[in-house]
Amino acid sequence: MKLSRAALALGLAATAPAYIQYTTVPGYFLQDEGSTDPSTFDFITTNFGLINRTYPADAADADTQLGQGQGQQQDQRQQPLPGALTQWERFHRQVLALNQDSPSTVEFKVLFLGRHGEGWHNVAEDNYGTPAWNCFYSLLPTYTDPALTPLGTTQALTVHNLWQRLLTTQRIPPITTHYASPLLRALQTANLTFSNLLHPHLYPRSSPIPFRPLISDLFREGVSLHTCDHRSSRAQIEDLFPGWRFESGFEDVDGYWDGEWGETRPAEDARSRRGLDLIFTHSSSSSSSSSSSSNSDLHSDEDRGDGDGDDDVFVSVTSHSGEIASILRVIGHREFGLKTGAAIPVLVRAETKPAPESTSTVVSWTRSAHCTAPPVTSLVGGGCVCTSEPGAVVTPL
Ligand SMILES: *[C@@H]1O[C@H](CO)[C@@H](O)[C@H](O)[C@H]1NC(C)=O
Ligand SMILES: *[C@@H]1O[C@H](CO)[C@@H](O)[C@H](O)[C@H]1NC(C)=O
Repeated sequence: MKLSRAALALGLAATAPAYIQYTTVPGYFLQDEGSTDPSTFDFITTNFGLINRTYPADAADADTQLGQGQGQQQDQRQQPLPGALTQWERFHRQVLALNQDSPSTVEFKVLFLGRHGEGWHNVAEDNYGTPAWNCFYSLLPTYTDPALTPLGTTQALTVHNLWQRLLTTQRIPPITTHYASPLLRALQTANLTFSNLLHPHLYPRSSPIPFRPLISDLFREGVSLHTCDHRSSRAQIEDLFPGWRFESGFEDVDGYWDGEWGETRPAEDARSRRGLDLIFTHSSSSSSSSSSSSNSDLHSDEDRGDGDGDDDVFVSVTSHSGEIASILRVIGHREFGLKTGAAIPVLVRAETKPAPESTSTVVSWTRSAHCTAPPVTSLVGGGCVCTSEPGAVVTPL
């Protein structure tokens, strides 16, 4: 919310152009360290990768809470004392302190980027091999907006269990604002992950807070010719997930996918940037409820579930491998591939700046070659060979 005011001050809502520069802030999570191997990294056994360390914001806590006087050594503070704040609580305080100590044009948020669990299209790609999948099978209508497999469901419930454990034992601050891709596998994953979480420390007697993310096309998978990139209609989504909210302007029929044109990487990155802009500048007018207009405020206490002020620092985005890679590019994070069902937090710094002279670059979409019948070969690195006219060798995307 800080940045929506800064954007107003810079005239974003009026005429003078402004833009937001996003940067990743290293030093807090293992996934930001060059020494962490994404292919073996396990977010579940590493506490989402949160590094055990002290923070500048600890100093104030140590003095007031623990009666720490002179003579105490830094290394003694690294041992959590009974009743002391947990690593997640101290990290949360550190992020709040970063926000407090920065000018009004700067805001920090922690984005939990989650990839959907395994879908039926993932199984098919494994079966056929990636080249044949890309040049032929991915275009079949049967893979349109695929659902989670039983394994995908289990993966999402595993992340749910991690959240419940951290809420109970680490008092991790609950996520107050959720976003989801409109593709079914992401909606199912978000639902299984975040529904029915109990917050024993904040609300000892309450039942779970209703989970109602904001659904936005800005977090969908990079659009290709694949039918798995073709989403269901808004009406179908509303039927499955009543009461969930949609970004304003969310159309009933998918206006992104036509089976002929695909997003280029620059086009996808431009869309991801708009997604980040939505996260960092959203206001009550940027969302609309599917059910009743009185629920349209993204920041109503009921939706946010925290009820203690303007602290929407922890945000979740349930999305896809390609789209999360794009978000990481936009914030300048190193490449970090996520397996199905995996999730990583990243600390993002956003700074609103006057726009440079020419920012309006048009990024175009592209067509790509494909086969019209099952291909003859599917060779990793060698592409696939079509059987049908014109019989050209097709290089997979
Ligand atoms: C941090 O310390 C706890 C024990 O205090 C340990 O269980 C956990 O694995 C450590 N995390 C990392 C990322 O080193
Ligand atoms: C959403 O999650 C809840 C709780 O796990 C489950 O009971 C429900 O069937 C899910 N809804 C859909 C549409 O998948």
